Amino acid sequence: MLEVLDLKVTYGAITALNGVSLGVPAGQIVALLGANGSGKTTTLKAITGLAALSQGRIVFAGREIQGLPPHDIIRLGIAVVPEGRRIFANLAVLENLLLGAYFRQEKEFIRDLAWLYETFPRLAQRQDQAAGTLSGGEQQMLARGRALMSRPRLLLLDEPSLGLAPLLVREVFHIIRHLNQQGVTILLVEQNAFAALAVAHYAYVLETGHLVLEGSGTELLSHPRLKDAYWGDDLEEDRGG
Ligand SMILES: Nc1ncnc2c1ncn2[C@@H]1O[C@H](COP(=O)(O)OP(=O)(O)OP(=O)(O)O)[C@@H](O)[C@H]1O
Ligand SMILES: [Mg+2]
Repeated sequence: MLEVLDLKVTYGAITALNGVSLGVPAGQIVALLGANGSGKTTTLKAITGLAALSQGRIVFAGREIQGLPPHDIIRLGIAVVPEGRRIFANLAVLENLLLGAYFRQEKEFIRDLAWLYETFPRLAQRQDQAAGTLSGGEQQMLARGRALMSRPRLLLLDEPSLGLAPLLVREVFHIIRHLNQQGVTILLVEQNAFAALAVAHYAYVLETGHLVLEGSGTELLSHPRLKDAYWGDDLEEDRGG
């Protein structure tokens, strides 16, 4: 569904990505792992047209999308849940969801809203509440719900577990798996390698703008390079809690 080929992105003198190639097959969850500053968010920005490429190609559903403006890329069926939620705090939950469905027809919106409220019952209970008054975990749900309202073929998630308590982290990954079972293809950016590898069909590991490892979730979980120093911090169950 998505193919990223030999990407290079620079910010002034900083090379954030160099020679990154990865693929996301339809129907799968692919994880992109890496430490702080390794280029994970930049990869998502490049895919959604928010970071300019100095080299490389991005093919989505058979079509080259590099150089297209972000709104055209989103229309093609890519949705992103950025780092740090970015919901509209002063708008009601329902209004946030409406914004996610901006390009869609009303009839489809009503049908999908029913589906979304089944998946996230808590959003249904709070649909008239200002989004800024939701708890952190509920805001995460809303950000994900809003992205889903555009009926994406590909959903990009940037660190969905960041800053959540362990119980909520488990819930988030449960929902990610559930969405995937419903047919949503997912590219999941995470520092929480253990949780991501447990749900991912395939994973890539970035280190300062280069891919250093790739393999199936189970392969990487037992890989010595990940087991040792690399993910040392993530061994703590209560990361970010
Ligand atoms: N707008 C920018 N201007 C200059 N440098 C940037 C910019 N955005 C990112 N960078 C640099 O590019 C590198 C990759 O950043 P990126 O945000 O992609 O990392 P990341 O893997 O998402 O990290 P984190 O886990 O902390 O979110 C970092 O060294 C960062 O400082
Ligand atoms: Mg990031």
